[in-house]
Amino acid sequence: MKPAAVIVLAAGEGTRMKSSTPKVMHAIGGRSLVGHALAASRGTDPDRVVVVVGSGRELVTAHLAEIDPGAVPVVQEPRNGTGHAVRIALDALAETGAGADGTVLVVCGDVPLLRAETLQALLDRHHGEGNAATVLTAIVPDPTGYGRMIRDDSGAVTAIVEHRDATDAQRAIAEINSGIYAFDGALLRGALARLRTDNSQGEEYLTDTLEILRTDGHRVGAMPAEDHHEIHGINDRVQLATLRRLLNDRICEHWMRAGVTVIDPATTWIDVTVTVENDVTIAPNTQLHGRTRIATGAVVGPNTTLTDTEVGESATVLATHATGVEIGPGVAVGPFSFLRPGTKLAARSKVGAFCEVKNSNLGIGSKIPHLSYVGDGDIGDGTNIGAATVFVNYDGQTKSRTTVGDHAFVGCDSMLIAPVTVSDGAYVAAGSVITKDVPPGAMAVARGTQRNVEGWVGRKRPDSKSAKAAAAAQAASESSTEPDSHDERRMDDTAP
Ligand code: UD1
Ligand code: CA
Repeated sequence: MKPAAVIVLAAGEGTRMKSSTPKVMHAIGGRSLVGHALAASRGTDPDRVVVVVGSGRELVTAHLAEIDPGAVPVVQEPRNGTGHAVRIALDALAETGAGADGTVLVVCGDVPLLRAETLQALLDRHHGEGNAATVLTAIVPDPTGYGRMIRDDSGAVTAIVEHRDATDAQRAIAEINSGIYAFDGALLRGALARLRTDNSQGEEYLTDTLEILRTDGHRVGAMPAEDHHEIHGINDRVQLATLRRLLNDRICEHWMRAGVTVIDPATTWIDVTVTVENDVTIAPNTQLHGRTRIATGAVVGPNTTLTDTEVGESATVLATHATGVEIGPGVAVGPFSFLRPGTKLAARSKVGAFCEVKNSNLGIGSKIPHLSYVGDGDIGDGTNIGAATVFVNYDGQTKSRTTVGDHAFVGCDSMLIAPVTVSDGAYVAAGSVITKDVPPGAMAVARGTQRNVEGWVGRKRPDSKSAKAAAAAQAASESSTEPDSHDERRMDDTAP
């Protein structure tokens, strides 16, 4: 049975983050904390999702609109406790006419390792036992700060006592309240209306509804989480790093079980939104972000960061940064290259060492092997771009495109001044500055003609090491050019 509503509590201040960014917008695994809570919640297919916002609510509301437009933000002002937060969320649901008489899940916005499977198990337990409320709990090594689960001699849950309101005996209890619950919506509404604030914080405690429901004769249950890490919340950046590591371990393990070789999970960081096919190898110190997809047989890394990038079958990407790029099958990239948005590398093409490519198309089998900048370029198939070529795409005011056709050859150290076209089968001589279109099959030479000033060093730098080296070379060449009828090769070389 799917829940009528999920209420995500995200109004907290997050003071210990010491951040101008609201706590629930800090990200791990490529998703904000509230994004993780929403993803897990959506996994139970709820009719409605309400997010209680407070601190930094403008930013959080805008963020919600971006990541989950169906989630309805409800402002809690002032923040008067978890019970108060859930009460106004239910009021907001009632106002929309939706109500929440079915099952209501309450989830914390800062518990990013929570899985949809666990919420589903909680729902199944809740319905199976016919409970008015079912609490997700955990046995933790250090329960300090958490609410403790109070059970009677039969093991039935009777109440939750907050750490600061607990006796020493209660503080010794290791089973804690995760702050995640399934409720019968109608009964919850009734219980929330009767909450008091006579506790150490003067707040409406959601946890007090359990005792109210039980006293009314309803069943209250609890389900300990299999892995207590799953319910850990985040209060500061140390916990943020700890849970980021745990989440990453989970993601790497998932892909390894799916047939991916992750050579060093400790230095491999993969966002939850990434997909990797089997028989991919991920070498150490590699980060895969956003909507990156890696096809089978590809080798990525070491020292590679890919964001929103597609890597084709059997491609290799070594020591490269790429964002918003399509890398085709069999392509070789790197080491030490920078691929920027809008770049498409067709099958079996190559971008070698120390290249930057931006908003450009590289055709099938074409190569940019070394030290080049290709910006706003369209390069055909089977073309070679020589070392240190620059696509001069910017004149200080506007950006223009450069086209290089199929089976063209651009010699090393050429400047192609856009807008310009080097047609199919054309050549560009090394060191050229190309400002005019090159017709098909032509050879463009756009550089000064070489002039050798004979004897310049001997005259201008007499007694220098260069002059001595030149003199020695000249003497050697004079003696070796003496006629020698037995040496045919030498005879040929000196022929006119
Ligand atoms: C609450 C529970 C405690 C449990 C712990 C788990 C209560 C009274 N206590 O503790 O038993 O062990 O969670 O983390 O419920 N929030 C609001 N509005 C508020 C107050 C809180 O939206 O007015 C949100 C926070 O943003 C957070 C969640 O509710 O996401 C829990 O609040 P927090 O202050 O972290 O927990 P405690 O109240 O200390
Ligand atoms: Ca609190």
